[in-house]
Amino acid sequence: MRILVTGGAGYIGSVVTEELINAGHQAVVYDNLSYGHREAVHPSAAFVKGDLLDTETLQGVLREHAIEAVMHTAAFALVGESVTHPAKYYQNNLVGGLSLLNAMRECGVKRLVFSSTCATYGEPAKVPIDESLPNNPTNPYGESKLAFERALKWFEGAYGLRYASLRYFNAAGATERCGEMHDPETHLIPLVLQTAAGVREEVQIFGDDYPTRDGTCVRDYIHIVDLARAHILALGILDERSAWLHGARSDRHGARDHRSGNQDPHSASSSRRSCSADCQFREDKTRAGLGTKASGSASHHSIRVELVAEESARIRGMICSSRPQSYNSYGHHLPLAGHRV
Ligand SMILES: NC(=O)c1ccc[n+]([C@@H]2O[C@H](COP(=O)([O-])OP(=O)(O)OC[C@H]3O[C@@H](n4cnc5c(N)ncnc54)[C@H](O)[C@@H]3O)[C@@H](O)[C@H]2O)c1
Repeated sequence: MRILVTGGAGYIGSVVTEELINAGHQAVVYDNLSYGHREAVHPSAAFVKGDLLDTETLQGVLREHAIEAVMHTAAFALVGESVTHPAKYYQNNLVGGLSLLNAMRECGVKRLVFSSTCATYGEPAKVPIDESLPNNPTNPYGESKLAFERALKWFEGAYGLRYASLRYFNAAGATERCGEMHDPETHLIPLVLQTAAGVREEVQIFGDDYPTRDGTCVRDYIHIVDLARAHILALGILDERSAWLHGARSDRHGARDHRSGNQDPHSASSSRRSCSADCQFREDKTRAGLGTKASGSASHHSIRVELVAEESARIRGMICSSRPQSYNSYGHHLPLAGHRV
């Protein structure tokens, strides 16, 4: 199939592109490089530098490449920034998304897989979260993604769009070719690894008074390769139906704050109340819907921040002894690259 990947120069889009190409598809990457990297675009993919808001250019690309489906991963995704600058998030994630939908409608492209987020749920009424829970975002990032999801439903009814919306939480990991390289860095795993590697002095953990066992947030993680393959599997069901699907869980961590007085290279900061305390999924519907389970590329273990202190030496050793394929295509060591929600 000929597939447009919006945001294909970013972390998730670049790996989705790689997996599409591995699966025998033709990929065209559409990215304005506001956060992405030209080097991250797979060499077998065509690349167009363009903005979601530029409907005309999008239409030209859809027609020129006879695109049959779109993987929509382009968005702004910094939760904190979305609170201080909501206009930026609505403009890019919602207005930009509508521009894409209009271009698709104009060109008769009817399949879309959307990289959504479980931030649509906000503070969940229960965990693990399942698809029946109400959406109630607690920040403009989640709101902007949910608003776009809602438009999808109406475009389906009126224009015959088929879509899948993947509401996953934190992606982590890398392929041999590509990994994470975000600026600024806000995600826990790369921050922990940077700290263990001595690049950072400490890890900040937001909040120690959440209503969880140890007062810190609990989050699910999914390996980037599992996630990319889930996008492709979701595309495969679109001829039958549209779907909302959770991120298939492949990992989980609890972030625990050890108070001062020990050698832990982390500090507690006030919590970000735009983030929920506990966000874990029930993944059975996703697995059933996609007809699969996690690829096994991810290791199934809990990651706790306390490990930073206990195992930093060991982690450092691992990083130092890594072989060259642990470096991404930009020549950076993969675990040191950035990552955002
Ligand atoms: N990274 C995660 O853990 C995570 C978790 C849940 C959901 N998501 C969602 O996945 C998607 C991708 O996340 P990511 O981590 O790869 O982010 P990223 O910043 O690495 O990638 C986004 C890409 O989109 C591009 N882009 C942004 N706005 C654009 C525009 N208007 N026109 C063209 N290109 C534009 C950027 O240049 C960048 O290359 C986002 O939609 C995000 O909401 C990510």
